Amino acid sequence: MNVYDGDRMHELLSPLNYKRVDDPNDAELIILNTCHIREKATEKIYSELGRLKKGFNNPKKNTKIAVAGCVAQAEGEELVRRAPSVDLVFGPLTYHQLPEMIQEITYRKKGKNKALVNIEFPARDKFLSLPERANKKEAVSAFLSVQEGCDKFCTFCVVPYTRGVESSRPAVQIISEAKELINNGAKEIILLGQNVNAWNGEGLSGNRWDFSELIKRLSELNIDRLRFTTSHPKDMNNKLIRCFFNIPKLQPYLHLPIQSGSNKILKAMNRGYSKQQYIEIIEKIRDIRPDTAISGDFIVGFPGETEDDFNDTMDIIKKVRYAHAYSFKYSTRPGTPAASMDLQIDEETKKERLFKLQELITSSMKTFNESFLGRTLEILVEKQGFEENQISGRSPYLQSVHMEGHNSLIGELLNVDILKIRENSLFGTIV
Ligand code: 5AD
Ligand code: SF4
Repeated sequence: MNVYDGDRMHELLSPLNYKRVDDPNDAELIILNTCHIREKATEKIYSELGRLKKGFNNPKKNTKIAVAGCVAQAEGEELVRRAPSVDLVFGPLTYHQLPEMIQEITYRKKGKNKALVNIEFPARDKFLSLPERANKKEAVSAFLSVQEGCDKFCTFCVVPYTRGVESSRPAVQIISEAKELINNGAKEIILLGQNVNAWNGEGLSGNRWDFSELIKRLSELNIDRLRFTTSHPKDMNNKLIRCFFNIPKLQPYLHLPIQSGSNKILKAMNRGYSKQQYIEIIEKIRDIRPDTAISGDFIVGFPGETEDDFNDTMDIIKKVRYAHAYSFKYSTRPGTPAASMDLQIDEETKKERLFKLQELITSSMKTFNESFLGRTLEILVEKQGFEENQISGRSPYLQSVHMEGHNSLIGELLNVDILKIRENSLFGTIV
C-alpha cells in the first residue's frame, strides 16, 4: 500500500513540476514514506533521517524533508523533536493535501521554522481529492487501493490506530481508476486493503455491494488478471470463496494470514477465528479450486506462547502446505494491548522459533515450486530480466518466472515450459 500511496504522491506533485531524482543530494524535497508495523521499521526511519542529514555533501539550503505514512501518523510532534531537520510530517490519510502543505512550508515566514505536522484524521475522504491516475505508462501489474483502515483490533497491531477505521471506496471510484490503469497499459490489477475482503461499499446504483460483487464487475473490464491482498479469515465468506471458481481472471492465489496455529494464542491476539475454522476455509477453497496457492503471515513469540503453542503453528504449516509466507518475531508496539501483557517472550527464544519456522516454510515453498518442474504455466510477462535477452513475469501462483525472450513481449500472456527451479524463482522456455 505504501507503493500505491507513493505513486499517488508523485502524481500530486507532478503538476507542481516535481520529478523523481535518483540521488537525494539532487532533491529539493525528500519524502520518507514510512511503515510502523514493527519496531524495526520505525527505528529505520530515525537512522535514515540521521543519515540523510549527515550524508548531504552539498545540501541545497532549502531542501525540504518530509516524513509520511504510519510512523508520521503515530509519532507526530515526537518525530520533529527527535529529528529537527524534518520540515513536514503527514499521515496516510492526509497526503492528498500535499500541494497545499508544500506551499505552506515553502513560503513560511523566516523565523517561523517550526515543522508542519498534519496528522488529524480528515473529515473528507482523501480519495475524493486525489487527481485521476496520471496518463503515464503503467506497470503491467498495477496496484489499486479499494479499502483502507481496520476495525479488527488484533492485540499486537498498530494499524487501527494509524490507518484509521475501516472504510471502503465506492465502486464508481474503483472502476474508473481501474479503467485509467488499463488505458495506461495495466494487464493485471491487484486490489489492496488492510482488510481487503471486508470491502463493502456503495455499488453503481447506490445500493451496497460486497467484495465478491466488486470482483465480478472488475473482471468484466478489459484485463487479464485480478488479485487481491490482504484478506482476513473472518471475512472469507462462501460467496467470495466461490469467486475462485466462477471468475477465471481471479488468480488461484490467496494471502490469508493465520498468525498462529494455537487457539489459545489466536484468542489472546483477538483474531476472531480458531485454527479449525481457518483450515475449513482452506479446504473449501481447495475443494472448488484445488490448485489454489495459499500464503500466510506468522508471528512467533507472542506473549504467553509456549513450546506447545509454537508447535501448533509448525503443525499448521505442514497441514496447509503454504506456497509462500512472511514470518516475524513479535514486536512490541506502544499503545497496543499485547504490549502490556504478562509473559513477554525473551529475544533468544523468539529468534530460535523464527529460525525453525522459516526453515519449515522454506522447505514448504521448495516442495510447492518443485511440483511445477516439467509443467507448462501461463506467465504474464512484466519486465526485462537481469540478463540480456531475458524477460521475467509471474505465474498464476505469483512465482517469478524467467525466460529467454525479447522485451517486446512485456505485457503478453505466454505459455512457458518450466525447466529449472531456483530458491525463489522458476526458469523456463516459451512454448
Ligand atoms: N509484531 C510482529 N509482527 C506483526 N505484524 C503486525 N503487527 C506485528 C507486531 N506487533 C505482522 C502480522 C501482519 C503483518 C502485516 O505484520 O503478521 O499480518
Ligand atoms: Fe492489524 Fe490485520 Fe489485525 Fe487489522 S486485521 S488489527 S490490520 S493484523
